[in-house]
Amino acid sequence: MKFFLVLTAFLLISSISADSCENCLASGKHYCADVKLCAFSPCLNTITHALNCPSLPNSTFAYDDNVARTQWLPLFGAGATNGPNAQKCFDNNWPTMKLSKRILVNCSDPSLVLPETQCSMITAVDQTKQILVMSFRGTVGGIQLGEEFLNYFQAKKKFFDSGEIFEFFYDAYLALWQGGLEQEMRNLKYKYPNYEVWVTGHSLGGALASIGASWIVKAGLFQSSKIKLLTVGQPRTGDYDYSMWHQNTFAYSYRVVHHRDLVPHVPFQYEISDKDKMYHHRTEIWYNNNMTIGSTYHVCAEADGFYCSNQQPDYSWNDHMHYYNTDLGYYGGLGCPKN
Ligand SMILES: *[C@@H]1O[C@H](CO)[C@@H](O)[C@H](O)[C@H]1NC(C)=O
Ligand SMILES: *[C@@H]1O[C@H](CO)[C@@H](O)[C@H](O)[C@H]1NC(C)=O
Ligand SMILES: *[C@@H]1O[C@H](CO)[C@@H](O)[C@H](O)[C@H]1NC(C)=O
Repeated sequence: MKFFLVLTAFLLISSISADSCENCLASGKHYCADVKLCAFSPCLNTITHALNCPSLPNSTFAYDDNVARTQWLPLFGAGATNGPNAQKCFDNNWPTMKLSKRILVNCSDPSLVLPETQCSMITAVDQTKQILVMSFRGTVGGIQLGEEFLNYFQAKKKFFDSGEIFEFFYDAYLALWQGGLEQEMRNLKYKYPNYEVWVTGHSLGGALASIGASWIVKAGLFQSSKIKLLTVGQPRTGDYDYSMWHQNTFAYSYRVVHHRDLVPHVPFQYEISDKDKMYHHRTEIWYNNNMTIGSTYHVCAEADGFYCSNQQPDYSWNDHMHYYNTDLGYYGGLGCPKN
């Protein structure tokens, strides 16, 4: 009883004088998110990285489950398939959206002696809603998956002046960029200078989408305020500085995670030194359920702390292949049938 009185009094006081997480960490102490106080212990949710200082997205750019289900789902479905099926995805779900280009390139890892693998993406235009789309395909087949996993133990590459990203993702993106994407985005920007750009992808496609949104900003092609990014089942893509830059740059950037999906935990955060760690950027949307219509979700206040899906004790491949109660192994190839 006494304890609860003390706790209540304490919470009252702390709500009045909450410390700033960023200032707290800058002074070399830890921030306790439970009570919103600097250096307070014992603490259940201790924050030691400014990347994870609690913050929620601006409500102007809020995540909307229905928009995700009805608009983003067919967009990342379309990115996963060939041109004709991608157009079917639009016809079935978003008839004013028109396929502009499909880009398919060799993105084999030159350091590994394996059969050739390919990366693919599509662009699309909606002239009524004034939206451009870049949608990236995920991993196809065991060889590419193997390349990604093997590459996690290899090099990273500098991402402009904002940290580093995995070499495999970097090289795969560059292959697409040089394989027609840069020319395509320059053309689209010239024709439709004021359109928004929606960027998306599942799995490997999610990592490429994160890079793609960032790249067109770094290249000076589009302003970040014009870009919306939504990925599903995205693996950790870049290091601390990349993720920090990303979340300071994009107001609309969502990383949707289905329940126990394995891939957002790859590479695992086992590295001892922060120097080698990879971090997710904001904002994780975590569905701790089967994602059927009406499912609840968490809008996660930490980018990549011991929070939301990171608290899961076990992982699932099946959850990775199902988003919004849709089997992504078939969805795009079937022309994104409406449920
Ligand atoms: C949210 O975004 C809107 C539109 O850009 C902006 O006017 C507003 O100041 C932002 N709110 C906060 C709290 O940053
Ligand atoms: C695909 O790319 C790899 C790595 O750059 C290269 O070794 C291979 O020869 C390429 N394959 C084709 C068919 O161009
Ligand atoms: C999804 O979960 C809800 C709530 O637990 C359950 O009622 C429903 O039957 C499940 N649906 C599917 C398709 O698994």
